[in-house]
Amino acid sequence: MDASPIRIERHGAVLVIVADNPPVNALGAAVRAGLEAGIKQGEVDESIAAMVIRCDGRTFFAGADITEFGQPMREPALPILVDVIEAASKPVVAAIHGTALGGGCEVALACHYRIAVPSATIGLPEVKLGLLPGAGGTQRLPRIAGVALAVRMTAIGDPISARTAVEAGLVDRLVGEDTLADDAIAFAKEIAGKRPLPRASERTIEPDPAAIEAFRDAHGRKLRGLDAPAANIACIEQASSGASFRDGIAYEREQFARLMSGTQSAAQRYLFFAERQAAKVDDLPADIRLRPIGKVGVIGAGTMGGGISMNFLKAGIPVTIVETGQEALDRGTAVIRRHYDASAKRGRVTADQVDAMMARLTPTLDLRALAECDLVIEAVYEDMAVKQELFGQLDAICKPGAILASNTSYLNIDEMAAVTGRPGDVIGTHFFSPANVMKLLEVVRGARTAPDVLATVMALAKAIGKVAVVSGVGPGFIGNRMLSQRANPANRMLMEGIAPERIDRVLTDFGMPMGVFQMSDLAGVDIGWHRDPTRIESIRDALAAQGRWGQKTGKGFYDYDENRTPTPSPEVKAIIDRLRAQGGHADTTYTDDEILGALLYPMVNEGANILDDGIAQRASDIDVVWIHGYGWPAYRGGPMFWANTVGLAKVVAGLDARGVAVAPLLRKKAQGGETF
Ligand code: 3HC
Repeated sequence: MDASPIRIERHGAVLVIVADNPPVNALGAAVRAGLEAGIKQGEVDESIAAMVIRCDGRTFFAGADITEFGQPMREPALPILVDVIEAASKPVVAAIHGTALGGGCEVALACHYRIAVPSATIGLPEVKLGLLPGAGGTQRLPRIAGVALAVRMTAIGDPISARTAVEAGLVDRLVGEDTLADDAIAFAKEIAGKRPLPRASERTIEPDPAAIEAFRDAHGRKLRGLDAPAANIACIEQASSGASFRDGIAYEREQFARLMSGTQSAAQRYLFFAERQAAKVDDLPADIRLRPIGKVGVIGAGTMGGGISMNFLKAGIPVTIVETGQEALDRGTAVIRRHYDASAKRGRVTADQVDAMMARLTPTLDLRALAECDLVIEAVYEDMAVKQELFGQLDAICKPGAILASNTSYLNIDEMAAVTGRPGDVIGTHFFSPANVMKLLEVVRGARTAPDVLATVMALAKAIGKVAVVSGVGPGFIGNRMLSQRANPANRMLMEGIAPERIDRVLTDFGMPMGVFQMSDLAGVDIGWHRDPTRIESIRDALAAQGRWGQKTGKGFYDYDENRTPTPSPEVKAIIDRLRAQGGHADTTYTDDEILGALLYPMVNEGANILDDGIAQRASDIDVVWIHGYGWPAYRGGPMFWANTVGLAKVVAGLDARGVAVAPLLRKKAQGGETF
């Protein structure tokens, strides 16, 4: 049997219970058992007057052990353990560093006192796993910190800083960053004799419907479609309803069990591990040496180049940004500043931080200024000849060992690498627009990309807060290759008499942030158009010929008002009717479910081809791409996970019925009763 992850130390009359369960001190069965035994030992030992719970390693408990979910719960269950802690007759102090999250926060809430180092953060992120705090968190937190903060912390799930926690009464004292262990003992001695013990469960709070209403007004749209936020809020309402603590706990337990058995939480828990799995490249040695990245160059100060730069500036990495003309350079720099100023206005960063970020930016018209950069990312016009010329220049300018990256969204990285004398240093870094916001980074591994280059870019992606997914070289990589499969059925359905707004509505009801045609209007209907108004071979040609280029011209598939609110367009309907009459297209009826299948099954099908071609390492990587790059609803787990929930046989039948060539891997899995 493994040694216990819990160690007991005695410091005079203080018993210190120390957990050491790397990497994040998750509250697995052995940790729970050790904590319970420690508290019981402190209770029966008459020489002990107070207890401390703290953790070794990088963090206080980061939560329940998610890998245990779905298995029978081993004793003691977390809700029992926290009750044992709170019921202790001697004071128990939680000494917090790192992140006290989920069950870890609940352990702290059950303690009678909480102290923390200033860099600690505290949160209840269960909602991000489609859950709610299931060990008393929804009942104890509002009793300590009030309804408004409890709703925000549980229904959004973002942690708060130790300082905010002090202001909210959630943390009793901040202590020295490096002296937590000693300060905890001193604090425990100080409060050892104080009675009564402050127990959260014994407090009562008033209802605060105004706070809940304000929260719903501010966040309702963002939380659309999700079960867990509403369940969290309902639990907090229960805590402040005047009902007993025990009734509140029973309600919390019931809601927790309901969420845990649902598909949404299954999808979100799957995604948690999928994101971490995506960071792992199967054939890279674990001990590979990374190249140091102290300075980054970005070529192109347009929307993409500016957005890319902002990621590095925010992470403290200096950026040299290059443009071909002064005006474009000034405009790009001003846009970056405006974004940061807006963040400062919203209180997300301070004015000093804005100045520091801008001070890290060096705008220039001279490509040779990139000579000392460790990584250069080009975000110029999508044209192979242009890119190849640039890579040739970079090869001559950049220092040996510098990584040369392209932000292309579909061009062949290998062809760019081929014009350099260092193809091993070339890689694709495909950011998604807006690049400072979207979390996805498709990292495109060329045929000759060196392993340490790939490993360095993956690590850097994490450092700038991105979720990176490795893709092989191929048109559209992972995301855009699948996206292209949605356009055909969408256009075909238009010709079968289904209105664009209905097709879009089916996608937004499903949880996508926008539909096919709304997306087309946003990106520009004229993108890729041949620019000959007399040549009309598709609905897109017809719209583009009439200047309906999307939001930028105030009209596209929809009409837009000055606030960019779309309304269905009679003109578009007339254009579609005309094209349908010309082509002799008959009306076809579809249910919403059939529309959804017609749009999404071909994407799943392409996902299977992408796997078969070795472009993606694993199905879960494809799901991560779609969730973080295109807004696929997390609670549906991504296209491949979703296909599993639909049933692969049903997906294949749907594709067959519409005459789509079924991917061999998909058909094989469906026939074998397998899943992705
Ligand atoms: N259970 C099991 N494993 C966990 C875990 C958890 N709660 N949290 C993290 N891990 C694992 C990760 O899977 C990863 O494993 P790997 O190295 O094999 O891929 C490893 O720990 C390190 O995690 P990260 O790569 O995420 O490390 P970071 O330093 O970037 O982040 C963290 C650390 C902020 C703690 C982040 O891991 C995190 O947010 N964890 C989840 C926190 C959470 O959701 N807690 C609530 C759990 S649910 C709960 O408590 C229910 C209760 O109310 C009953």
